[in-house]
Amino acid sequence: MNDAMTNDAPAATEVEPKMNNSTSSHALAAVVRHTEEDSDTVTALDVRDFSCWYGDFKALHEITMDIPECRVTSLIGPSGCGKSTFIRWINRMNELIPGTRYSGHMTLHGQDLLARDRDLVDLRRRVGMVFQKPNPFPKSIYDNVAFGPRLHNRLKRHEVDEIVETSLRAAALWDEVKDRLKQSALRLSGGQQQRLCIARAIAVGPEILLMDEPASALDPKSTVRIEDLIFQLREHYTIIIVTHSMQQAARVSDRTAFFYEGKLIEFGATKNIFTRPKHKQTDDYISGRFG
Ligand SMILES: Nc1ncnc2c1ncn2[C@@H]1O[C@H](COP(=O)(O)OP(=O)(O)OP(=O)(O)O)[C@@H](O)[C@H]1O
Ligand SMILES: [Mg+2]
Repeated sequence: MNDAMTNDAPAATEVEPKMNNSTSSHALAAVVRHTEEDSDTVTALDVRDFSCWYGDFKALHEITMDIPECRVTSLIGPSGCGKSTFIRWINRMNELIPGTRYSGHMTLHGQDLLARDRDLVDLRRRVGMVFQKPNPFPKSIYDNVAFGPRLHNRLKRHEVDEIVETSLRAAALWDEVKDRLKQSALRLSGGQQQRLCIARAIAVGPEILLMDEPASALDPKSTVRIEDLIFQLREHYTIIIVTHSMQQAARVSDRTAFFYEGKLIEFGATKNIFTRPKHKQTDDYISGRFG
């Protein structure tokens, strides 16, 4: 495992200067990549009045948002505001925690994600997840990527080979690993492991990729590679990324959602959120005045 990669170490890219209000908008506006207004989007994930609880504690309050298809949506907000809780409900990991419950609706391309009788194996194929700490299986590079496709389909050897190559190419890792596919994934660097986890998620053909701080355990160079990759992947996938880095949200996302104390305070085009936020709390947060 890469020495540079420890779960708790803050990445250099996460340490951002506390900017005063007058400079923050300019600094962030300068890195916003998606400058065009695009209203011409299809909703992939439709969230209506979604609330959830851990026991008596209400962690999310009546969240309503349309997550657009084939775009990157960033979730930002101070620690404990409910970002991870929100994305863990989208692939229904959170319901495994005793005492959790929800109210409201989530539909993915019109299908109820929260239906009791939903097949969770199929759901997790459609909703891929990449975690903060790369978590490859202790298997070969090849077997990591082949695992999902083999689980979901009866495939011939050459079909699996093809999916492995396509997924590794899509995750911008193929050239680095094509000669050592049988080697253990655990021998890859942290940044390579994270791209492998993205390849593994892609291999089963998901509709949405959820990424919870996917670059925060990585060094700056690996972070740039992951950001470039996210930018490219949006051509085919709907992506939701949680990040503590304002710069990263500005660089990779089309839309940004600001959460605070379990509430969705503001959601809109990244350019607008970072250059002319409507709410004071958003402005204070992106200006580094709290959080
Ligand atoms: N398993 C749990 N049981 C009880 N409360 C929880 C659990 N997980 C999270 N919480 C609470 O829910 C709230 C939201 O937590 P969550 O992990 O979603 O925040 P976050 O925005 O992802 O924070 P961070 O930026 O630190 O990752 C917090 O108050 C947290 O303490
Ligand atoms: Mg979190």
